[in-house]
Amino acid sequence: MPLVIAMDGPSGSGKSSASKGVARALGLRYLDTGAMYRAMTWWMLEHGVPVEDAAAVAARAAEPVIESGTDPDAPTITVDGTDVSGPIRTREVTNAVSAVSSVPEVRARLVELQREIIGDGGIVVEGRDIGTVVAPDAPVKVYLTASEEARALRRAKDLAADPGATVTVTQAEQARRDRLDSTRKASPLTKADGAHEIDSTELSLTEVVEAIVRLAKEHE
Ligand code: C5P
Repeated sequence: MPLVIAMDGPSGSGKSSASKGVARALGLRYLDTGAMYRAMTWWMLEHGVPVEDAAAVAARAAEPVIESGTDPDAPTITVDGTDVSGPIRTREVTNAVSAVSSVPEVRARLVELQREIIGDGGIVVEGRDIGTVVAPDAPVKVYLTASEEARALRRAKDLAADPGATVTVTQAEQARRDRLDSTRKASPLTKADGAHEIDSTELSLTEVVEAIVRLAKEHE
């Protein structure tokens, strides 16, 4: 199977930067599955669907047309043809996404789309269930972690434009999201069999990318 690199881990572990860096270094495509769950959540909020009501979310999960680009230098995400790369990063979406992504109908739909995009491989895929559910046969699986504090600091930097997003608030919201993502019934975040765990707390981005590139080369 041409190379698929499955990158899982909690929020703020540095998955996105590392995944894009690895894709660039190896000339692979890149898929951000979290952006797809965010896009689904954005659509639900836009259409007034109560996101805590799983039956209401399930009933409309087939409606939005979600398209993801796979260029690591210019990742794109559209819903019904509208570019939502900005709106999916707001705190409103971030705080609603775990409820939406815990709905099995949402996951079934997005996993199918993700497998279509992965196709014959040649891609780095980041998310929470890539090594366990989406691509369990991926030849390289990474479980990226970092201390809670390091993760909150990274997230707060991402949200620097939002005055409400202090490190303390971000840490609490992130802890809640990680708890929901790890304890849900459908495909909870967990380390896949055969995944290499990398703790990025004390590592630079370059060091993380180099470690994963080494793992990929061992599998050539
Ligand atoms: O990676 P990111 O933080 O953008 O993911 C947003 C949310 O999407 C996660 O908190 C999780 O609820 C959901 N997600 C998921 N499965 C994936 C990727 C993301 O449930 N493969």
